Amino acid sequence: MTPPRKLHIKSYGCQMNVYDAQRMVDTLAPEGFVETASAEDADLVILNTCHIREKASEKVYSELGRLRLAKDEAARGGRTMQIAVAGCVAQAEGEEIVHRAPVVDVVVGPQSYHHLPELLKRAGREGRAIETEFPPEDKFGFLAQPRPEAIRSRGISAFVTVQEGCDKFCSFCVVPYTRGAEVSRPVAKIVDDVKRLADNGVRELTLIGQNVNAYHGEGPDGQSWPLGRLLAHLAEVPGIARLRYSTSHPRDVDDSLIAAHRDLPGLMPFVHLPVQSGSDRILAAMNRRHTADDYRRVIDRFRAARQDIAFSSDFIVGFPGETEQDFRATLALIAQIGYAAAYSFKYSARPGTPAAEIQETVSPGEMDQRLERLQELIDSQQSAFNKAAIGATVDVLFEREARKAGQIVGRTAYLQPAHVMASPDIIGKILPVRIDSLERYSLLGELVTPGVSRAPELSSMAPGA
Ligand code: SAH
Ligand code: SF4
Ligand code: F3S
Repeated sequence: MTPPRKLHIKSYGCQMNVYDAQRMVDTLAPEGFVETASAEDADLVILNTCHIREKASEKVYSELGRLRLAKDEAARGGRTMQIAVAGCVAQAEGEEIVHRAPVVDVVVGPQSYHHLPELLKRAGREGRAIETEFPPEDKFGFLAQPRPEAIRSRGISAFVTVQEGCDKFCSFCVVPYTRGAEVSRPVAKIVDDVKRLADNGVRELTLIGQNVNAYHGEGPDGQSWPLGRLLAHLAEVPGIARLRYSTSHPRDVDDSLIAAHRDLPGLMPFVHLPVQSGSDRILAAMNRRHTADDYRRVIDRFRAARQDIAFSSDFIVGFPGETEQDFRATLALIAQIGYAAAYSFKYSARPGTPAAEIQETVSPGEMDQRLERLQELIDSQQSAFNKAAIGATVDVLFEREARKAGQIVGRTAYLQPAHVMASPDIIGKILPVRIDSLERYSLLGELVTPGVSRAPELSSMAPGA
């Protein structure tokens, strides 16, 4: 038997890349590859890249600089190290990558991961292989299935891709170019994946997609199913206790999704709903095709369906032409909605996007200052939200042993990490925890009835409920 080959994958960017990294591992497992934590002793290093902002994209080249040294070192020891660039930079830059970094053996776009074994062989023979075919063949149809051991080693919470790509073309964003047009997977395939996950200990699913609530996959009845219907169907799979989905677009929140939040106790009341800006002028320039008021109304519909629902969002500051007045409209929207968390970014001009052509830019100093003001407001909302949990009894799904001996960590409905002292056999269970204190972003508490499953009526208890 040939000895296993070592594979190291480093992922940047979004949850889709985390998921794709697992699929690459699953695709390469039959080729004898096993994962290793260190790039230096790997036979294959894959950088799974993100193109969303300039900083993310440029990181790849500094990493490739370091890998060049590791590859030389391996060669001196008589070992061959292959280097592959995958992900959205691979898709966006293709061949350019090898011009800038000749150390790269393989460039592979997100639609071609099922060809990885073949590309590695071709690179071995011909010195290099590049595949960024677009549009894809049926990518989803070719994805490798994880082995049961792989699923179990990844823990009780899993991502499942239900759609990929985006047709929204926000004027600042590269995703429609790197991930292509929106495609939804058929319900039956998703159900197969989910059953396999549940059979191997997964209790929580996050359905992912660049525009997940644009989901319109074919159902078993031949009809196109919206996301809400898919969620209701997956809630029935034995073993699946919690459902989440990410990332949604405010324009695609339909009644099925609202009904799912009203009717499914397992659908977590925590929704990531990016708005980007609170100024209608900027939202129009961003081609978001919704106003700040449209967004407020969407939030109201969610809240009417489930009163304990909380939100997170993404914001961009310093979009070309953003004035102080526009920025204040964003702060006003944040103040009005009240977020449990948010991600905020300085605008980064991306090659090929319409916004990159706009001449009128915001100065770096102004951007820094706006980002700081926005983050201050979000931080105060987030810490108020977390503090509200102190003294409450909340359901926690326990995931793993914490760093501190004897401690087990899990997550609340709102993804807050919660720590208790308990035995590891609570991992995989949802148990009520009385929250005593807050340490930075982590909640500390005690099991209400140590080791004993709680009464079902407690399951919907949450701060604010
Ligand atoms: N599909 C998701 C996420 C897209 S990328 C959505 O529609 O929300 C995640 C976030 O990165 C975006 O929500 C946006 O806030 C940010 N982003 C995207 N392009 C950017 C750019 N050019 N500059 C700065 N931030 C950007
Ligand atoms: Fe990008 Fe807009 Fe699509 Fe989100 S909705 S991925 S921000 S184009
Ligand atoms: Fe980045 Fe591509 Fe995801 S650009 S955010 S890795 S879809």
